[in-house]
Amino acid sequence: MKYRLVLALVVLVLVPFLITFRVSSTPSAPPPSPTTAIADTSGTSLRSLAQKRGVSIGAAVALEPLQNDATYRKVLAREFNVLVPENAMKFAVIHPKRNQYNFAQIDTLVAFAKAHGMQVRGHPLVWHYSLPNWLEKGNFTREELKEILREHIQTVVGRYRGQIAVWDIANEVVTRDGSFVDSIWLREIGPEYLDLAFRWAHEADPKARLYYNEYSAEEISEKSDSVYNFASGMLQRGVPIHGIGLQMHKLVTWSFSSSVADNIKRIGKLGLEVSITEMDISIAEGTGPREERLAKQARIYGDMMRVCLSAPHCKTFAMWGFTDRYTWATSWLGTEGAPLIFDESFRPKGSYKALEEALSR
Ligand code: XIL
Repeated sequence: MKYRLVLALVVLVLVPFLITFRVSSTPSAPPPSPTTAIADTSGTSLRSLAQKRGVSIGAAVALEPLQNDATYRKVLAREFNVLVPENAMKFAVIHPKRNQYNFAQIDTLVAFAKAHGMQVRGHPLVWHYSLPNWLEKGNFTREELKEILREHIQTVVGRYRGQIAVWDIANEVVTRDGSFVDSIWLREIGPEYLDLAFRWAHEADPKARLYYNEYSAEEISEKSDSVYNFASGMLQRGVPIHGIGLQMHKLVTWSFSSSVADNIKRIGKLGLEVSITEMDISIAEGTGPREERLAKQARIYGDMMRVCLSAPHCKTFAMWGFTDRYTWATSWLGTEGAPLIFDESFRPKGSYKALEEALSR
């Protein structure tokens, strides 16, 4: 009798407690991924539709789910033909010590892309962020830093020559007022580090398409004027720049106008390509029921795809991930923004359907 009582106590109290504790002690770990055919879409795929329309479709890819989540791999390979390393190519990851590179992560992504007929977009070579301590605290002279940057760019671009055809060389470098974002490169080398970066990358792979990638420069604005002026200055100086990446991290409250199309047009007139490189639309902000915000999100995705399709020099439409299960919005921005086109169970959202529809016309 006593024994039964103890057993009942264990079952009724201890087991639920343990389950609750486990779940709440790992709040960021999502539940196991569905392994069934839940992720199947209508039989077509975005990549097959995009291919017919002459545009590439991409997603930023994180190593952890690529290695551990079969559904993630399946949907990624089925829907996208461009893979962007979310973090695997950042300076601190790929070049952790002065004389040591770590290509293991990016090689895993490149191998996956190759196995599934996907292009890789190199991202990013020069950024003020994600730099290793040895570099930031190194007290290097100007000449030493120039040599570090040249060696970094030429080692990485050279290693993937013939495998990575498009690169974000410079990431987030100008401010609204046309000055440059503070960084060790700017402080120690001066603004010419940017021209040099493009020239060095071009030397390492003369066939690669080299981009300057920027956020909040989608519409005609002070910031996009700065981007435009900077890029046209580079062209005048004969710097090998081939395109501008518009990141497009936006909120669902974004009310855009024809000004995105106008901006894309003026970049084209410079003779440059454009790509949408990191699109995500957070629904965390704004009022109204969730369903309404999701519908608005879908409209924005569809509209932006149409804008890209109507500009022949808009080459790639890439998102910063593809499933709300794994998005920097949760881990980095700390919001439940549900900003992507598949939900947390890999079901296609309205945003997916909006892209599908835009590509099908
Ligand atoms: C972000 C990643 O998504 C995060 O995981 C990381 O901690 C910080 O960087 N613009 C960019 C991307 O160009 O490289 C950033 O990626 C998001 C903003």
